[in-house]
Amino acid sequence: MSWKFFVSHSLPLFFLFFFYSFPLISTQHNDDPTFKTMHDFSGYPVDESSHTFTPSNSISLSVDIQALQKQIDELSTFSDTPAPSVTRILYTENDVLARRYVKNLMGLAGLSVTEDVVGNIFGRWDGYEPELTAVATGSHIDAIPYSGKYDGVVGVLGAIEAINALKRSGFKPKRSLEIILFTSEEPTRFGIGCLGSRLLAGSEALAEALKTTVDGQNISFFEAARSAGYSRDEDDLSSVFLKNDSYSAFVELHIEQAPILEEEGISIGVVTNIAAPASIKVDFEGNGGHAGGVLMPDRLILPIVTIFFL
Ligand SMILES: *[C@@H]1O[C@H](CO)[C@@H](O)[C@H](O)[C@H]1NC(C)=O
Ligand SMILES: *[C@@H]1O[C@H](CO)[C@@H](O)[C@H](O)[C@H]1NC(C)=O
Repeated sequence: MSWKFFVSHSLPLFFLFFFYSFPLISTQHNDDPTFKTMHDFSGYPVDESSHTFTPSNSISLSVDIQALQKQIDELSTFSDTPAPSVTRILYTENDVLARRYVKNLMGLAGLSVTEDVVGNIFGRWDGYEPELTAVATGSHIDAIPYSGKYDGVVGVLGAIEAINALKRSGFKPKRSLEIILFTSEEPTRFGIGCLGSRLLAGSEALAEALKTTVDGQNISFFEAARSAGYSRDEDDLSSVFLKNDSYSAFVELHIEQAPILEEEGISIGVVTNIAAPASIKVDFEGNGGHAGGVLMPDRLILPIVTIFFL
């Protein structure tokens, strides 16, 4: 459900670039014929009525880079493995402490914080037309064993600092801006990736499957969720499903998990294609035999199928 912005350097500034520059670009893109906006690329017409906000030149934005880095460092200490690695598994004590840390920062930023029964966390800054659907951003803070401190975290803490910077500048959003911390983007504990966002997207199949899902220690999903303070009212997850018109836009800021931007010295990239990994379970039927000894003609089906899969 996301656009991902890949960033290697200067990330907070670029995050603000997103909030601030599209209205400007859409009104100025005729000046320079080589300049292309997302609207140009998308082929969709620009809806001028949705770009009524014009930033005044007097607004100055200051991102507190030191504060943001300090928060990223502090969050990384909620880990099951020693620094510089981060291991933060869904619904463990460190996950709960990290969530508390983020909710506290959201509160300090003046956001109204809510959580659903699986622990998706929402921090909302009401716009001056709060009946309009919100613009959302966010990411995850769970971390696979021995990962780094930026994956996911940048999209959550960076968003909080972006809102802080906008607030400091005196900016008032028309639409509400919302930061979402998605539960369990990583499949580490239950083998299910993007658990929170898939439920938000209304996956009945996942809601059903979670009723019988256990982790490697045979702890059920609901038992684990309850140990972290969620899902108190047993196992009905339909309350997590979002209504269709909940958000008007979503953007995710993310580190680049590859070397390209850094090698090229490029500060930011915009994703145009996204990997959509899938896994399938295949049963092969046939007559097997010892590799090398049993020749292909004496095996059934297996050679053809295997060649197809290789
Ligand atoms: C897992 O827990 C369930 C319920 O407590 C139990 O019935 C089952 O035997 C356990 N399975 C294993 C492999 O321990
Ligand atoms: C949301 O939209 C989808 C796709 O258009 C539709 O199948 C579904 O019924 C809608 N859900 C609700 C609650 O309106």
